[in-house]
Amino acid sequence: MSNTLVIATHNRGKAAEIHKLLGDIPWQLVSLQEFNQVGVAEEIEVSYAGNAVLKARYYAVATHNWVLADDSGLEVTALGGAPGVLSARYAGENASDADRRDLLLSEIEKQGNVERKARFVCSVAIADQTGEIRKLTEGVCEGAIATDARGDGGFGYDPIFIPTGYTQTFGELAEEIKNQISHRAKVLLQARDFLLEKNWPA
Ligand code: IMP
Repeated sequence: MSNTLVIATHNRGKAAEIHKLLGDIPWQLVSLQEFNQVGVAEEIEVSYAGNAVLKARYYAVATHNWVLADDSGLEVTALGGAPGVLSARYAGENASDADRRDLLLSEIEKQGNVERKARFVCSVAIADQTGEIRKLTEGVCEGAIATDARGDGGFGYDPIFIPTGYTQTFGELAEEIKNQISHRAKVLLQARDFLLEKNWPA
């Protein structure tokens, strides 16, 4: 019998990538939507690792299952590392992905002719069913911000992020390429090794 691993995200884009990258391991991946009345973990920490740990612990205790939680964001050098841990809330609570991309592009334009260096960061925490953290790891993907949004693949800031070594944005590149080089791919590879090498009690 395989063990259950709850994937603690309400973000569909993230959930799809996590399922793609971990779908073949001998754990049963279960979405948070399967659990009624678990509430929502408030992301109040100031680091990706802090928020990933907070979410993994919260949903493990609430569901009595092993949980994998990720926290991620985009850091733009010319904006002093913003939006960073606030990436999901940049442009306000009810804004769309397109609103956040437009705001980011206009904030960079305001800086004048600056370098457009940026990076995505992703932390993943895995908690056991008691809420104890068993694995915490981080992945980074370096790149630059495009001058305009291009492509409709991926999610979030993908149409304005060009990974180093490419000329296309994550919105234009094939999903298979993003899933080889992204911050989330790197961190999930480590999570995957951890989950595969352990023979956890059911
Ligand atoms: P959180 O991890 O739920 O706090 O949300 C992180 C936010 O960063 C997402 O809502 C996206 O806006 C952005 N983000 C994180 N990873 C990616 C990615 O792989 N592509 C595009 N945007 C991302």
